[in-house]
Amino acid sequence: MKNDESNPLIGICVSKDDYPGLLNLLTKRLQTALDHATFIRFHLTDIDFEKLKVKAAEYKKSSNEWQEGIFPMPDVVYMQCSANRETIKRIENIIGPKVFNSFLFDKWEGWKLLKKSWSLRKHLPTTQLLENNADLIDFISKFNYCDVIVKPINGYSSEGIYRIKFQEGKNIEISSTKGLKIEKQEFKYSKEFWYLLSPKFFAGTHIIQQSIETIKAHENVSDIRLNMNKNRNGQWEVSLLLFRIATNSSVVIPKSITAYNPDKFMKSSIYEKEKMGDIEKTIINLGLKICKAFDKSEYHMADLGIDLGMDEKGHLWIFEVNPLPFPTRGSVLDYSMTKPMEYALYLASKRNI
Ligand SMILES: Nc1ncnc2c1ncn2[C@@H]1O[C@H](COP(=O)(O)OP(=O)(O)O)[C@@H](O)[C@H]1O
Ligand SMILES: [Mg+2]
Repeated sequence: MKNDESNPLIGICVSKDDYPGLLNLLTKRLQTALDHATFIRFHLTDIDFEKLKVKAAEYKKSSNEWQEGIFPMPDVVYMQCSANRETIKRIENIIGPKVFNSFLFDKWEGWKLLKKSWSLRKHLPTTQLLENNADLIDFISKFNYCDVIVKPINGYSSEGIYRIKFQEGKNIEISSTKGLKIEKQEFKYSKEFWYLLSPKFFAGTHIIQQSIETIKAHENVSDIRLNMNKNRNGQWEVSLLLFRIATNSSVVIPKSITAYNPDKFMKSSIYEKEKMGDIEKTIINLGLKICKAFDKSEYHMADLGIDLGMDEKGHLWIFEVNPLPFPTRGSVLDYSMTKPMEYALYLASKRNI
C-alpha cells in the first residue's frame, strides 16, 4: 500500500530500551523538521510483516508529544538501533531501498570496512582486535610500536581508552581518562601490568591501535570532528567540521574540550597555514572518500560522525566512524541535527525502481 505522496510517513526505528538520550535527540530533531510529513518511532518487533502494519508513536509537533497508534509501513526508515541484514532486507522488500543508516557497526567492523578502500589505507592507524594477550605482544613486536592505544570497540566519549607507552629502560606508562580526570599509572614489565590488562581486554571487546601524535595547540592534543550527511538532494555534504582541543594534558580528547573551526585552529597552533596547505579542503576530501567507501558497501548510510586526527606533518588519520552520531550542541551550528530528516524526505519523494 502506498502512503499519501504529499504527506509521506517517515519511520524512525529505535531500540526497545528507549534510551532517554536518543529519545530527547529525536524529539529535538522533529521539532524543527518540515511539516509535510508524518514522523513515527517504532521498534523492530512492532512491525507486522503479514498485515504490513506497524505499532508506533507519532510525533505531534503542536503539543510536542508522542501519540501511539497503528500505521501502515513507513515510506522511509531511519535506523537508530541495530538490526540484522535479514530484517533490513525484509523491510526493503516492502518499501524499496529506503532504509538508511542500516548498519550500526563497532570500531573493529568500521576499520575493516574502510580498510577495503585503497585510498583510505594510508589514513588508518594499524589496528588489531585483541582476542588473547598474545595479540598485544604480537602487535607490539610485529610493528615495533612503543606507543599504542587500547580502546573498547563499543566505547564512546573516550571512556575506557588506555594509552600504553613502552620505553626502553623505563617503566611502562599507562594513561586513561575517567570522566574529566586523567589517570596515570606506571608499571615495571611485570605481573602487575598484566593483571591490569587481563582479562577484560582480551575477549574480543577491545582493539589495539597505533597511537598517533596529533598536532597540538597550547600544549594540548587535538582531534577533528567531521559530521557528514546526505542532504535533501541525496548528496553527501559536511554538516560540521571542528578541531577539538583537550582542555588538559589528556592523551585523548576528553569530555572537556575547546572547539575551533580549522582557520582559528591553525592560528592558535604553532603550525603555519602555508606549510599545511588547505587543511579544510583536505579534511573534507577525506570525509567524502569515507562516505564513498560506505556507498560502495552493501550498507545504506547517510548520517556519519567521523573522528580524525592530524599529525605534525599534516597527515590525516581516521580514529573512528560513528554510525549513530550525536549532533554537537552548544554555540556551533551542527546541520547533522536536521539533515537526516531532509534526506528521509528526499528518499520518500523518489519513485521505487
Ligand atoms: N590511535 C589513536 N591515536 C591517538 N589518539 C587517539 C587514537 N584513537 C583515538 N584517539 C583519541 O581518543 C579519542 C576517542 O577515540 P575514538 O576512537 O573516537 O573513541 P570514542 O569517541 O568512541 O571513545 C579520539 O577522538 C582521539 O582524540
Ligand atoms: Mg570518537
